[in-house]
Amino acid sequence: MNSLRLNSNSIIVCTFAVVMSIKPITILAFESSCDDTAVAIMRNGKILANIVATQKIHEKYGGVVPELASRAHQQNIVPVLHEALNFAGITLENIDAIAYTRGPGLLGSLLVGASFAKGLALALNKPLIDVHHMQGHILSHFIDETEAPEFPFLCLTVSGGHTQIVLLNDYFDMTIIGETLDDAAGEAFDKTAKILGLPYPGGPLIDKYAKLGDSLKYNFPRPKIEQYNFSFSGLKTAVLNFINNEMQRDNQFINNNLNDVCASVQHRIVMILVDKFEKAALAYKVKHIGLAGGVAANSALRSAFQSIANKINCKAHIPAFEYCTDNAAMIAMVGYLKFKKGVFGNQTQTAVARLDFDMLK
Ligand code: KG4
Ligand code: ZN
Repeated sequence: MNSLRLNSNSIIVCTFAVVMSIKPITILAFESSCDDTAVAIMRNGKILANIVATQKIHEKYGGVVPELASRAHQQNIVPVLHEALNFAGITLENIDAIAYTRGPGLLGSLLVGASFAKGLALALNKPLIDVHHMQGHILSHFIDETEAPEFPFLCLTVSGGHTQIVLLNDYFDMTIIGETLDDAAGEAFDKTAKILGLPYPGGPLIDKYAKLGDSLKYNFPRPKIEQYNFSFSGLKTAVLNFINNEMQRDNQFINNNLNDVCASVQHRIVMILVDKFEKAALAYKVKHIGLAGGVAANSALRSAFQSIANKINCKAHIPAFEYCTDNAAMIAMVGYLKFKKGVFGNQTQTAVARLDFDMLK
């Protein structure tokens, strides 16, 4: 009879290995790159808490005021941390590592989250993990995911500051294959909203009014840009000129046609995004595609994205709404993956406004 013989030492080693492999990994994460102060707690890839304090102060200025944003982060960060800990039902002793957004973003805002995370890591003697904000948006697809994307995976990341098509062959093997040459898609929404007299951030309001309008009523121009790159500044100028002309003829034009203008501009932005993305997905022969970033919350973009996935026979992945706009859950996700890889940051690293993917593998 074959039998497995273990001496007492091997039993101790085996037991230790089992305990090590089942010990949960708990990540505390901070995100403060723009105007949202966010703290999340993740255990083994599942979110225990995801708290975001949105700064209302910028509404009346038509955009984020950097100095006001960093002051608001300072006021919010401690209460948001306490709320996250309470929500998760854990204490700081239960944390295995602290992840934070190192860049890109507004420097004054990033510095608040980075300094706080570094100070806390020092006080608690826990490892630090520095995270790239855009990698966070992309890897948000893997949060709480039962049907995670498979590699190669092509992601369209659309936020207030970025518009990128990124090819992933693995979690940290990311290549930008196309990006905006000027304004980001979110800026196109926000600047259109400003022209129409709507408060910041305009994207959600344009989405709301567009639902009631005719998306084919006004024909805004489509840029002719090489390869898989984008441009939105021409569209912004076209909207500005169009509204100025119409308002000269009829000063009630915006009031009477708001829904149709929102629907038509939104339609153009969405078409620019999905047409380019479809070409890229076909060229790179991927079977899994994803949509990330704040603009991924847009209802027309979500349904157009799903439609192209059906058309080209790909599986579409779109994160839950709360993981699309800025949040710390996505930073915790990257932190968790880096922790498992054994990749840590250190106390000498500082926040940076501009940051390449390669600098934070
Ligand atoms: O990713 P995000 O929260 O912050 C940045 O990293 O920039 O994206 C913010 C952007 C803003 O431009 C906002 O107007 C846009 O996302 N946004 C939307 C919607 N919700 C947020 N744009 C269009 N439709 C939406 N429903
Ligand atoms: Zn973002």
